[in-house]
Amino acid sequence: MLIDNAHPSTYNECMPYIDFHSHLVPCVDDGAKSLQEALSLLREMKEAHDIVTAVVTPHFNSDYLVCKGIYCTMEQMLAAIEELKAAVAESPERYPELLFGCEYFLDIRHQDAVGELLTLAGTDIVLLEMPYEIDLDGVQKTVRLVQDAGYRVLLAHPEKYDVFILEPVESFSWLHEHPEVLVQTETWNLYNKEPLAWRFIEEGLTTVLGTDAHSYHRYPSYMHAVIELQEWAGDDFAKLKYIEDITYNNPMKLLGNR
Ligand SMILES: [Fe+2]
Repeated sequence: MLIDNAHPSTYNECMPYIDFHSHLVPCVDDGAKSLQEALSLLREMKEAHDIVTAVVTPHFNSDYLVCKGIYCTMEQMLAAIEELKAAVAESPERYPELLFGCEYFLDIRHQDAVGELLTLAGTDIVLLEMPYEIDLDGVQKTVRLVQDAGYRVLLAHPEKYDVFILEPVESFSWLHEHPEVLVQTETWNLYNKEPLAWRFIEEGLTTVLGTDAHSYHRYPSYMHAVIELQEWAGDDFAKLKYIEDITYNNPMKLLGNR
C-alpha cells in the first residue's frame, strides 16, 4: 500500500515514481552526449527524484533514420542501449531500473514507416510525437494509423501541440471520448506552470508523467512537478489519489500491458 488512506497528509512518505520519457541513451539523438552524462542524470533520477523505474525513449524517425541532426539506425540504437545497460549493471543500486522504447516522430505522411515499431518496455504501447503544428484531423489520422498497426498510443506531451490551444473544445472532447489514447504530461511543463499542461491534469486526462530529460540543461524535473502537484492537491484525497495514479499506479498497469 502506497498511501495511508486514513491520513492523506502522510502521502508520499514512501512513494516511488516511474518516469515514462527520457533521452538518456548516449549519442543516438539530441539527448545525452556521453555515457558519463547519461549515468549522471540517471543517478540524479534515483537519488533526487525517487524514480525507481525509468523508461528511456530515444527519438526515432523510422523512415529516414535521422533525428535532430543525428544519424542513427535501429541497430546502432540497440547497440547503444546495450552499452548503457552494461554500464548500469556495474552498480545497479545507484540507478533506476531501466526499460526502453522509442519516441516515434510520425504523422500521416509516414504511413509506410508504421511497420514493426519498438514499443515501450515490450508492451503494445508506442510513444508518439507529432509535428506540433498538426491539426486535429492530422492527430486523429496519425493515432489511427498507429492503432491500426496493432499498437496502443501514448501521446508524448500533447500540451506542446498547437491544436489544444487553437481547437481546445474539439481536441479535449476527442481525448475524453477516446480514453484508449493515453497521455504523457511533461514534468518540466508542470513545474513551469504551463497552463495547458495543467489543463490535462485538471481534466484528469494525464495517464503518466515523463521528464523528457535530455541533458544537464534539460534535466529530470520529476520531483519538482510532484511538489507542484501536491500543492495543487492540498488535502483533497481524490487529487492525491490521482497523483499516485499518474506517478505509479498507471505506469505499473501499462508496464504490465494492462
Ligand atoms: Fe522526447
